[in-house]
Amino acid sequence: MTNALVLDGKATALQIRKEIEQDTTAWKQGGGPTPTLAAVLVGDDPASQVYVRNKERACVSVGLASQLFRKPHATTTEELLDLLNTLNCDAEIHGILVQLPLPAHIDTQAVLDAVHPLKDVDAFAPENVGLLVQGRPRFLPCTPHGVLQILARYQLPVAGKHVVVVGRSDIVGKPLANMLLQKDVGLGPDFANATVTICHSRTANMAEIVRSADVVVAAVGQPELITTEMVSPGAIVIDVGINRVDSRLVGDVDYPGLSAIARAITPVPGGIGPLTIAMLLSNTLKACRLQNDAVKALATRD
Ligand code: GUN
Repeated sequence: MTNALVLDGKATALQIRKEIEQDTTAWKQGGGPTPTLAAVLVGDDPASQVYVRNKERACVSVGLASQLFRKPHATTTEELLDLLNTLNCDAEIHGILVQLPLPAHIDTQAVLDAVHPLKDVDAFAPENVGLLVQGRPRFLPCTPHGVLQILARYQLPVAGKHVVVVGRSDIVGKPLANMLLQKDVGLGPDFANATVTICHSRTANMAEIVRSADVVVAAVGQPELITTEMVSPGAIVIDVGINRVDSRLVGDVDYPGLSAIARAITPVPGGIGPLTIAMLLSNTLKACRLQNDAVKALATRD
C-alpha cells in the first residue's frame, strides 16, 4: 500500500480565502457595506483567545471588518444577553460569533439562542439548524462545511459512499451527518448523498462499523482514538480533533499508522482547522448580503 494523499487544509483554506477576498472586493465595489463580524469572548481561556485572534486577523486579511467584544469571566448571562441584543440591533454588525466554551456559570444555550438568525455565522441557532435538517440551509456550519470543501476540492466524492462520523457534537458530528445525507447542500450532488452512520460513546462494535466505512470522520476530541486496526485500507480519513498532548497537537486518529494505509488523510495541524476559519469568513460575507437583501425587501414593500 502506498502512502496516503495528504489533504492540505492550509493551502485549500488559502485558496478559499482568496476567492472570498475577490467576492468581498466586488461586493464593496458594487456599493455594499463592509461585512463586519462581532466576536464575543468571555473570560481568559488561552486557547479561545488564540482562536478569536486568528478569526479577527483572517477577517481583515480578506477585506472584512471585525470587532472584538471582550468581557470578564464574571459576566452574567443577563449581561451577555444585553450585549447580544445591542449587536443584533446594530445595522453595522452582520455576523456575531460567541466563542465557546463560555464560563460554566453562563447559560450557553440561552446565549446562543439570542443571536439573531440572520447574523448567526456559526449556524448554531435553532432556526438555522432546522433549515439545514430540512435540506435548505441558510448558513452552513463552519467545521462541517470545511470537511465537505476539502473533499470537494480534492475531487473525493461522497455520494453513495458509507461515511462514518465518529462524534455527535452539535458543532461538528450532528450537523456534518445532516449535511452528508442531504441531496445537495450547495457543493453539488457528489458532495452529499452519502450513507451516513454516526458513532458515539455508547456505540457497540464501533471498530466494526468504522471498518466498513469508505470515509471516516473523527470528531470526538480523544487523542488517537481511531487506530489502523479500525480502518479499512484505502479509506479516506478526515481528522477534526485538535488535542494537546504534552504541548504537542494531535488529532483523533493515529496519523502515522493511518497515513500508511489510507487513500487520503488530513493532518493535524494543517488539516480541517484552517478551513473552519475560512468558512466563517464566507458566512460573514453571506450574512451581510442576506441582511442587505432583507432591508431592500422591506424598503420596496408596498
Ligand atoms: N469553539 C470551538 N469551536 C467553535 C466554533 O466553531 N465556534 C465557536 N463560536 N466557538 C467554538
